[in-house]
Amino acid sequence: MNMGSRNCVPVSLLGYIAFVAFIYISGSAVSAKTIFLEENAPTLDEVNFMKKYGYLQEVPSSVSMTYTSQSIAEAVTRMQNFAGLPPTGYLDDETRKLFKRRRCGVKDIEAKFSTHRRKRYILQQGWGKKAITYRVINGTSTLPKTRVESLMKTGLEVWAPHGGLNFRMVDHSKADIEVSFASKDHGDGFPFDGPGRVVAHAFPPPHGAMHFDDDEIWGDNPSEDDEDITDFFAVAVHEIGHALGLSHSNVKASVMYPYYQVPVEKLHEDDIMGMQELYLKEDVHSPALEVRTESAVSGRSSLAPRFTKADSEEDENDVPDLCYTNYDTIQVLQGKIYVFEEEWMWVLSEKKTILEGYPKRFHEVFIGLPRHINVIRTIYEKQNGHIVVFSGRSYWEFSARFRLVKRGRITEYKIPQVPELTTVFISNYNNKTYLIEYERYWRYDEATKTMDRGYPKEMSAWRNVPYPVDAAIIWKGDTFFFRGPRFWRFDNHQIRAHQYYPLPTAQIWFPCPSTPDMMQYTTNDEP
Ligand SMILES: *[C@@H]1O[C@H](CO)[C@@H](O)[C@H](O)[C@H]1NC(C)=O
Ligand SMILES: *[C@@H]1O[C@H](CO)[C@@H](O)[C@H](O)[C@H]1NC(C)=O
Ligand SMILES: [Zn+2]
Ligand SMILES: [Zn+2]
Repeated sequence: MNMGSRNCVPVSLLGYIAFVAFIYISGSAVSAKTIFLEENAPTLDEVNFMKKYGYLQEVPSSVSMTYTSQSIAEAVTRMQNFAGLPPTGYLDDETRKLFKRRRCGVKDIEAKFSTHRRKRYILQQGWGKKAITYRVINGTSTLPKTRVESLMKTGLEVWAPHGGLNFRMVDHSKADIEVSFASKDHGDGFPFDGPGRVVAHAFPPPHGAMHFDDDEIWGDNPSEDDEDITDFFAVAVHEIGHALGLSHSNVKASVMYPYYQVPVEKLHEDDIMGMQELYLKEDVHSPALEVRTESAVSGRSSLAPRFTKADSEEDENDVPDLCYTNYDTIQVLQGKIYVFEEEWMWVLSEKKTILEGYPKRFHEVFIGLPRHINVIRTIYEKQNGHIVVFSGRSYWEFSARFRLVKRGRITEYKIPQVPELTTVFISNYNNKTYLIEYERYWRYDEATKTMDRGYPKEMSAWRNVPYPVDAAIIWKGDTFFFRGPRFWRFDNHQIRAHQYYPLPTAQIWFPCPSTPDMMQYTTNDEP
């Protein structure tokens, strides 16, 4: 898969010179080095924890960075607030215990600490339907699959009445919520960490997977003395919350509190309100089931986990901040970078300048796209210059001048009725069209209008690229994958993501400053 010459990413990083209180250097080559100039400073592990859960701005692992003591203190305060501890900003013993506790691997808050207003819908979507299937793929040494199935059934029943949901177990076919046990790196970009600490994580709809760390000793209502045993049911009820679309709560008595607590007996008011928000309000707002299903499917955002509660109501005209958000998709069209997020689009020139008139609502540009499509997640430019937007199982094809020329079904690409394509791009190496679902992709030959043999293939073929991806683009001869706030460059010689990635998308592709939390990135893009 040699896709051409190697080019620099447009890296022009950020000349912040800052007051340096202490420095953390993490590198791929040697173990981390920490220079403490202050007492009570966090260890590298603790810094990593605060980054991982969204308390401290996350930076790629391959860069050197500098945090001020101020930004660390703020992160500690955020963490204390979330955990329900006194917000002192100091790492006292009680706070330090949090770093060691068993917990869910899902992020607590999104790292958006700017004074800018946050985007509106950070609370993820529900399933957009009431009948939801689940499947237990495997069990673990201490809990056979059949036992996991019955505990899942009980766990789902805890939630069902609060969203008017009904759950049906399936055994062989693909299910909405798929449960499995795995350890360490298991292909989704969120590796588990061995015994202790992270015990499980789950993805919001429409992904819906629930993963349990197979390096834990899982038990079925263990006695309180068995401290090493993690209660499957307690964790499962929490993870089901995520798989239904809920984020973490800072209410200690709620099921969605991120740290492990037993026993779980019932939902808290806070959990129930989240469910009503996700599943019962929508009954009032969208009476037509047809529309509801389709817009809910296309209405979700980036596929990377995002785990923050929605901010208070904001008005309709609130444009997301390009520098502090996930992106629904990014694509190169007519040589320019197009970014889509919620109902908005931006067009950027090669020099990272936002073109005049943007952001703009994409419905103003893609006239003829049905109004119920409230997000563009999949778009690409055909070789004939036409621009194709996918949503659900349909596509809309526009001329190079953005006039609607055709509406079709994705099966015309000779692929089966997949739930939805997430990303489509044309390789500059072989001119083939790559059609990416969540975990699989197809390769289509537009010239002969046939699907290539041997497809679909697993996304794991793109080694070191986590999936599902939000976007894939060809830029100056290189292939880039985007997911959440970060991107990877694919190395076509080694057939894996380049080792110096991921890097933060906003700072590299868009005119975004470094945040105050992240005073400096330095990176050597070329190895
Ligand atoms: C369970 O299934 C998952 C997903 O297919 C797989 O990654 C994992 O290795 C399996 N675990 C065990 C213990 O077999
Ligand atoms: C791909 O298409 C471009 C433009 O149509 C053409 O110049 C190029 O030769 C094609 N490459 C291959 C490998 O077919
Ligand atoms: Zn969680
Ligand atoms: Zn996982």
